[in-house]
Amino acid sequence: MHKKQHRRSSVAQQTDGITLDHAAPVYDLLVPLMTLGFERRYHRLVTRLLALRGNEQILDIGCGTGTLTRDIARALTDKEHSLCTGLDAAEEMIEIAKRKAAPISNIRFDAALAEQLPYRDRSFDAAVSTFFFHHIHFELKKKVLTETARVLRPGGSFIIVDVDVPTSWFGILCARSGYWLFQQSEIAENIEGRLREAFDASPFTWRADSHHSGYITVFELKKKDSL
Ligand SMILES: C[S@@+](CC[C@H](N)C(=O)[O-])C[C@H]1O[C@@H](n2cnc3c(N)ncnc32)[C@H](O)[C@@H]1O
Repeated sequence: MHKKQHRRSSVAQQTDGITLDHAAPVYDLLVPLMTLGFERRYHRLVTRLLALRGNEQILDIGCGTGTLTRDIARALTDKEHSLCTGLDAAEEMIEIAKRKAAPISNIRFDAALAEQLPYRDRSFDAAVSTFFFHHIHFELKKKVLTETARVLRPGGSFIIVDVDVPTSWFGILCARSGYWLFQQSEIAENIEGRLREAFDASPFTWRADSHHSGYITVFELKKKDSL
């Protein structure tokens, strides 16, 4: 089914998304390079946009090794009534995420597909996703947005950080280099504005909150109240 030949766990084999079992052991070493050192800044921006009360149920989609999941769980002050759930299709990512989060009580991780979320309708207050949407093709982007809307309560936020249409020469260079390095048509889609197109076709209203390094955008989506 999948065009790449990397090692994939059994959950990962069920998706067309580009999963990272093979990179899990070194992933945290690569993140500072891939985010140009701004990972923590993105996590702060995401947490600020969530405007947490402290007792929410939050979902982190394509959580990788769960660093953001952990940051959000820590920011949720009512440990007894809050929960931050991280989900990733790569079982090896989830294993590492669980180990890293061991002392935290209001956190859980699931190895599952973003396009088939194993959760009840309207069971989360908000969702987040960083650097995941450039790992799935356009049809999956639309499916994941619909599926996320299903599990969110009406008016729930979905905060997304990802590669977007470049806004500077530096951004064009970084985004095109990423595409050239990984040969991922999913990255090219984002650069061409197709992530925005998927938002337009989704059950969310959306806005670009801020732009970074000329090719990364922080988006704030809101589930339409009528759903
Ligand atoms: C670049 S990583 C981002 C990880 C983390 N959010 C971060 O910001 O560091 C993209 C993640 O998406 C996961 N992934 C790809 N397709 C998926 C799918 N269909 N369902 C769930 N996770 C998927 C990969 O396994 C990988 O861990």
